[in-house]
Amino acid sequence: PVRILIDTDPGIDDALAILLALASPEVQVEGISVVFGNCAVDQGVRNALAVLDLVHAPQIPVARGMERPLVQPLLLAPETHGDTGLGYARLPEPTRQPDPRHGMDLIIETARSAPGEITLVALGPLTNLAMALRREPRLVHWLRRVIIMGGAIRHQGNTTPLAEFNVYCDPHAAHIVYHSGLPITLVPLDVTYQVVLKPEHVNYLLSFESPVAQFIADATRFYMEFHDAYQQIEGCVINDPLALAVAFAPDLVGTEAHFVDVDISGGVSMGKTFADFYRMTGKSSNMEVALTVDHARFINLFVERMAYLCRS
Ligand code: BDR
Ligand code: CA
Repeated sequence: PVRILIDTDPGIDDALAILLALASPEVQVEGISVVFGNCAVDQGVRNALAVLDLVHAPQIPVARGMERPLVQPLLLAPETHGDTGLGYARLPEPTRQPDPRHGMDLIIETARSAPGEITLVALGPLTNLAMALRREPRLVHWLRRVIIMGGAIRHQGNTTPLAEFNVYCDPHAAHIVYHSGLPITLVPLDVTYQVVLKPEHVNYLLSFESPVAQFIADATRFYMEFHDAYQQIEGCVINDPLALAVAFAPDLVGTEAHFVDVDISGGVSMGKTFADFYRMTGKSSNMEVALTVDHARFINLFVERMAYLCRS
């Protein structure tokens, strides 16, 4: 299996991505580092542990990471993910403690112990990864690949008209990561907005009458209300599960190599990600950008794997 580390701000779609990883035999989860974002970092740590408990997952280390961005003021997303980060779901308090290490140290140590083997799947603001790169520059050579959910290339933003949430939360961290030399695959809103979980998918899962199905229903009901109220979308966009799936099924998306950068100049386009499609900068590509997606195949895969968890 592909050995992955998940860096996350759980978060409704982050929780779904963690569940997808646990339901997928093609990946082995080596650890979870948590960052502020959809909710405060301590809440995110509790959420990650509680989601692992929900499916009786093995003792995967969960480490608390950065609680605020490098430069920008703290921004959270209770209107999108609810006050606890998991919508209307209420999970029991976790049964175990987080890993004592800092999130960035979990990333560094896991990568150092298996150079060239670990894929990092980053599903929140990139603060933990940027800090880890500053602390241990050799991380660039130790990680096999980094798959990043973030950015809006041709698509409009979801936090400002131009900027996507994960990048907008900490654009300076994104800048460090994009310019680091890491082998990156970017999964931006351009593709994630094509993967929409619908009420009928959730109703199918509810037919299994399992606590996992109830959790998915309670969490996504809040997320669907947000999408309906703010974006006139029926259902909810499951950004993070798509990025997670790219770790083990890269052909779900079509990618192109481009030079991609982020605006950190502080004006109206702060946090905007852009690709040099016409090669005007003279800079060579720094990542693979997903621009097309087989959305039907992904939604089928996602729903079937959630059904598997509901049946187990
Ligand atoms: C990203 O922002 C968060 O709200 C989601 O969890 C996802 O990672 C989408 O812009
Ligand atoms: Ca996220």
